[in-house]
Amino acid sequence: MVDLSDKPTIIGEKVISRPFQSSDLPYIEEYLNDPEVIKLTGSTPDIDKEIMNQWYSTRNEQKNRLDLAIVDKHINIVVGEVVVNEYEEQHQSMNFRILIGPRGRNRGLGTEATQLFIDYVFQHTNLKQLTLSVFDFNPRAKRVYEKTGFVLESIDQNELEWEGEWIDSLNMVLKRIDWVEGQV
Ligand SMILES: CC(C)(COP(=O)(O)OP(=O)(O)OC[C@H]1O[C@@H](n2cnc3c(N)ncnc32)[C@H](O)[C@@H]1OP(=O)(O)O)[C@@H](O)C(=O)NCCC(=O)NCCS
Repeated sequence: MVDLSDKPTIIGEKVISRPFQSSDLPYIEEYLNDPEVIKLTGSTPDIDKEIMNQWYSTRNEQKNRLDLAIVDKHINIVVGEVVVNEYEEQHQSMNFRILIGPRGRNRGLGTEATQLFIDYVFQHTNLKQLTLSVFDFNPRAKRVYEKTGFVLESIDQNELEWEGEWIDSLNMVLKRIDWVEGQV
């Protein structure tokens, strides 16, 4: 069992990660439709607005996962999101994911948001590990995950076809015993 019903506000130097609000929706729609986000997360374009609204308006009720909006403190706008989901009892493990739209990328926000979020999750649960998957054509994300302690565990070959090429998916893990709080 994992209880993530508390939805915290996590304050860093560059970012605040906090529960979603209805006023975030236009900014969420913007980053979900960003071509780079679509490519690097393997998601689909032209998201149905009603489904999207329904999804984000119910994130704060979820007890077995944590979804937070990432706010760029400088502009006070939501630029992305950070999530743990898919609790797996056997390994006391959850899946981590993050995405940041064009307004927020390449300024250290993703690194800070990742570190503070994993610190929070390990401090407030008994989870033994966090896992994630990243496409092999995403060196920036790989760099952020390595900096925050994730290590390669396995590779799923040819997971995504992108412009005629097959892309591998890398499975990474951060075990509690290897987690270093606030290391970046
Ligand atoms: C991945 C993501 C969360 C990273 O957040 P970010 O705020 O852009 O990243 P940061 O600025 O904190 O850090 C990026 C790091 O990668 C490095 N980097 C950037 N481009 C790189 C590249 N092409 N190759 C290798 N390293 C790269 C940067 O130098 C920096 O490392 P450093 O601090 O050691 O110099 C964000 O870019 C994003 O969400 N992108 C789109 C969607 C996505 O890829 N999501 C993840 C799916 S698994």
